[in-house]
Amino acid sequence: MRDMLGELEARREQARQGGGRKRIDAQHAKGKLTARERLDVFLDEGSFEEFDMFVQHRGTDFGMAEQTIPGDGVVTGWGTVNGRTVFVFAKDFTVFGGSLSEAHAEKVQKVLDMALRNRAPIIGFYDAGGARIQEGVAALGGYAEIFQRNVLASGVIPQISVIMGPCAGGDVYSPAMTDFIFMVRDTSYMFVTGPDVVKTVTNETVTAEELGGASVHTVKSSIADGAYDNDIAALTEMRRLIDLLPASNTSPVPELSFSQSVTEEDPSLDTLVPDNANKPYDIKELIAKTVDEADFFEIQAAFAKNIVTGFGRIEGRTVGIVANQPMVLAGVLDSDASRKAARFVRFCDCFSIPVLTFVDVPGFLPGTAQEQGGLIKHGAKLLFAYAEATVPKVTVITRKAFGGAYDVMASKHLRGDINYAWPTAQIAVMGAKGAAEIIHRRDAADPEKLAQHTREYEERFLSPFVAAERGYVDEVIMPHSTRRRVARALAMLRNKDLENPWKKHDNIPL
Ligand code: HXC
Repeated sequence: MRDMLGELEARREQARQGGGRKRIDAQHAKGKLTARERLDVFLDEGSFEEFDMFVQHRGTDFGMAEQTIPGDGVVTGWGTVNGRTVFVFAKDFTVFGGSLSEAHAEKVQKVLDMALRNRAPIIGFYDAGGARIQEGVAALGGYAEIFQRNVLASGVIPQISVIMGPCAGGDVYSPAMTDFIFMVRDTSYMFVTGPDVVKTVTNETVTAEELGGASVHTVKSSIADGAYDNDIAALTEMRRLIDLLPASNTSPVPELSFSQSVTEEDPSLDTLVPDNANKPYDIKELIAKTVDEADFFEIQAAFAKNIVTGFGRIEGRTVGIVANQPMVLAGVLDSDASRKAARFVRFCDCFSIPVLTFVDVPGFLPGTAQEQGGLIKHGAKLLFAYAEATVPKVTVITRKAFGGAYDVMASKHLRGDINYAWPTAQIAVMGAKGAAEIIHRRDAADPEKLAQHTREYEERFLSPFVAAERGYVDEVIMPHSTRRRVARALAMLRNKDLENPWKKHDNIPL
């Protein structure tokens, strides 16, 4: 008996060594943790339950029969984050470069199936060289089996991908189908085909960072939702994100204790909006002063900064926040901002996370670049996302709500539940100057007359009261009471019961 126990321990120890000391040292020399070290940091201490530690590949070509390493390049299982169950897989770069064989794929499929069956989030940590080149088509089949599971799990359990090294070829499409992708700066990159293939096919010379580093995917492509300076920072932030998310689409949002009173007024908000309507202010100040303890987890902070998206808590419960940012392009809605916010709203709606929208939007961005780039369809994505969402929707218009952008930004007409406006709100078809120039075209050459017409338009329409007279805003509220009013609205909406008509699925303008 003792021999058997000894053998088990020896086998476990061998599996824990992955690709061996030399490769582990090489991993550390690149500033990266190993797969197991990552799970140690991410999961609660001692909570990890590993599966399939002894699984080996079945390849025989290219001398692979003699090269087997228990675990086959991926560490899988489940554990807890602050006591809540999560399923995990972490690619082990020290074993065949983390590449995916048929057996490796089966391990990932198993945890995906278990996460879905047991309704808990799944988090994948990537650091891998794509398909196991020695296996060929068996690896391709393995990828597709994973993709299929990602799609079935989409909208049922949160799926998060963290890119912590190479992520190339077949490895990119599973993260692309998950809810969020995060990266580590300087050590991670993602691309379908790497610099060598690019050189061969297009004759472009490009580095891995230029092709698919965090600086590309968080700023330009919007593939990634955020990036961190090192493995530890990324893993710690992922724990913070898990704390904000429900376990599944049938679970309630997590409720944490909170210390900041919701009845306290914040007089500084009464002067947040400058007297000059063209002067910017930072909408993140309002977000910080509305959520519990100013704790805000921003999503896509570096992309389309004219709209801010992210999670916070109000009275301890998670809320998704979408806010036009007057500091960037005056908070205008363009294609990128619309796509960014639409995906965020849809995530919230999938997982019953109420959406709080702060509106200060001068309209959609005019221009050939936008129109030819598909602004109509991209803008429609956000409109569609808000209109189909059945979660509680609370909206606060702080200043401009002009034109189509007024309609889109969780207006009353798109089933906004509670729509507030600050006294500084201006809800109108367009800005006063543009309106005066169109209505009084014959006075275009007379600046004085035009200024007079502009003032008249401002007085008549640039306030919250024309909309309030029609019931398009439920109430005009004092800025200093925003946190209390939003908290009260969300508390009232906790039992909201709204369903869309049955359909197989919708046809959002993609
Ligand atoms: C088998 C692989 C591997 C792979 C890396 N290794 N990638 N083994 N299959 N795909 C092994 C290496 O042989 C090496 O083994 C170890 O992992 C570390 O690799 P290095 O090259 O030494 O590391 P590094 O210099 O850091 O380069 C990492 C890398 C590079 C950029 C990821 O290894 C690389 O380019 N790999 C191939 C990438 C690729 O083309 N993948 C296939 C994509 S096609 P030893 O024993 O020396 O430690 C694909 C199609 C699927 O995925 C599509 C489905 C939809």
